[in-house]
Amino acid sequence: MPQIEWEVSFSIGDETIDKQHQKWIALYNKVDKMLLESNPTEFAEMKVEALEEMKQYALYHFSYEENFMKKINYPDLPRHWRLHKDFDYKVFELIRQIESGGILLHSELLTVMRDWLIEHILKEDMKIRQFQ
Ligand SMILES: [Fe+2]
Ligand SMILES: [Fe+2]
Repeated sequence: MPQIEWEVSFSIGDETIDKQHQKWIALYNKVDKMLLESNPTEFAEMKVEALEEMKQYALYHFSYEENFMKKINYPDLPRHWRLHKDFDYKVFELIRQIESGGILLHSELLTVMRDWLIEHILKEDMKIRQFQ
């Protein structure tokens, strides 16, 4: 998987949220590199660890972003909140899948993360821009 590079076009117009998105992208890149370099025995364990880290960061970031949306009276907050919850659930399901012995390929895991992250920032978080 190619690494993701932060671009100015990713900016949603708030410095703190942009920084958190950059941090999240850095986390994705770290996980991508880590999984590529791991051997098969370390693999499952590392995937769970990586997902746990993503989940923790998502919790922190989502809560900040939702509070920010409340502050600016963002009208579509309930739907956005649900999208965040969907992500939490998706990660929870992936962890369960790995822990119950299911096969989850490196590429599959990274594709889920990458698609969600980029899609969500560019399509959903970006909508906040006009309300600031
Ligand atoms: Fe969001
Ligand atoms: Fe976000």
